[in-house]
Amino acid sequence: MPDKEFAAHVNEGLSKHPKMLSSKYLYDSKGSLIFQSIMQMPEYYPTQSEHEILSEKQANFYQHFPNHKPLEFIELGAGDGMKIVPFLKYFLDNNTDFYYKPVDISSSALESLKERINKALPKLNINCIHDDFFRALQNINSQNTVHPVYLFLGGNIGNFTRKLSIDFLKNIRKNINSGDLLIIGFDLKKDPRVIQKAYDDPQGITASFNLNILNRINRELGADFNPDNFRYYAYYNPETGIVSSNLYSTKEQSVYIKKLNKTFHFNQWEYIHTEISRKFDIPAIEELANSTGFSIVDHIYDNKKYFTDTILQAK
Ligand code: AVI
Repeated sequence: MPDKEFAAHVNEGLSKHPKMLSSKYLYDSKGSLIFQSIMQMPEYYPTQSEHEILSEKQANFYQHFPNHKPLEFIELGAGDGMKIVPFLKYFLDNNTDFYYKPVDISSSALESLKERINKALPKLNINCIHDDFFRALQNINSQNTVHPVYLFLGGNIGNFTRKLSIDFLKNIRKNINSGDLLIIGFDLKKDPRVIQKAYDDPQGITASFNLNILNRINRELGADFNPDNFRYYAYYNPETGIVSSNLYSTKEQSVYIKKLNKTFHFNQWEYIHTEISRKFDIPAIEELANSTGFSIVDHIYDNKKYFTDTILQAK
């Protein structure tokens, strides 16, 4: 990630009212490691739910895949690659002809992905793409000798605003062919308390994940944030279906950012917005698909119906 882009983002975001930073910057190497710990927390059900889908329901996906050319699984935002292992293993075990192309913004996540996948599935050929998925999409031109299947798992689409998710899907649609398949993980609406706990864990792992962005600004842009002077707070609003995560300044303070040669002022309890995490219902997923040039092929759920990996097809 070029430094300049991050510096410009921080400058713009901290000059806004309310202040905000994009959640994509939570994933430096430390942030990616903390996120791996989040995924192991008992409270963070999305990982368990999607794991169940990808390790027990592969046949439900397989029945929808074309089989007259090799498949090419292009995973956007692959992270540490662990969620897709049981899915890929099924296809290896069934001697399906396929390739795997993981795309991720974090080079450290891709490094550990390669290591883990080589260990778990030594026969698999991986071609890693280190990039922002918006940019990567413009550069991925699948050959017409394969059937591309795009995957956007983990509920990452929930971290986009409604507008951004529409732009994102339209962007994908523009870059793929009619008939191509796209599998998207959507976290579903459920008991609000279950959702609240997943983002407000008692050990404070999610808090350190969000606060780490301040350390990143310190390290990369020479700032003097004291993370102890900020509190993480997340709340789920079941009316909007959105978890909103913010960092609150516990006191009036100023922070100097050397690379920007600029001081940012915080009033007491002023906040930096760091992330939204949207929760969906089926009509919202259908509306999103229909308004972006896709039709729904199937929803593959876990047993509790907490999560769906939905198969969409480009119209
Ligand atoms: C990556 N993404 C789907 C996570 C989520 O659930 O929105 C990020 C996360 N933030 C806090 N916990 C998990």
